[in-house]
Amino acid sequence: MSTNYSSIVNKLNLIEHPEGGFYKEEYRSKGILPQSNLTGFNGDRNYCTSIYFLLTSSNFSGFHRIKQDEIWHFYSGSSLSVHVIYPDGKYIKHTVGMDLEKGHFPQLTVPANCWFASNVETEDSYSFVGCTVAPGFDFEDFELAKRDELTQSYPQHKNIIKQLTRS
Ligand code: GUN
Repeated sequence: MSTNYSSIVNKLNLIEHPEGGFYKEEYRSKGILPQSNLTGFNGDRNYCTSIYFLLTSSNFSGFHRIKQDEIWHFYSGSSLSVHVIYPDGKYIKHTVGMDLEKGHFPQLTVPANCWFASNVETEDSYSFVGCTVAPGFDFEDFELAKRDELTQSYPQHKNIIKQLTRS
């Protein structure tokens, strides 16, 4: 594996994420939104959270969804392909990166409740990005896709679902 991704993992104390890749929560607001002020959440949530996220080209982040919009920010390394299946069945591969001539976006918002996954297409490389959500992240709001169920819902996307799910 090229460039010293492990120095980023070690210096920032990133840990393995269940969806694939490495992460560390860098910010969690002290402020609390009570459940009574939220729609669709089973409890109170912090106002906002953000993580560092590092993915290598030998791995992928599997399809999952959360209840919040998620804002991605590019930091360094190769560009990151973010594959989004929208609730109406539309599929778009977005690229988070800095090569604006190639249509990369330094910042990308994945809307709440979309299924999304990511990978690094440049061989022997990694992407280092940030992800911010509000209300704050809680694993209770995180759902990892099951390959068969997601394929049944979106058979037209079976190839990318097979590529970016583990079971
Ligand atoms: N905290 C732990 N996992 C995640 C994640 O996948 N996204 C965000 N935004 N925060 C997290």
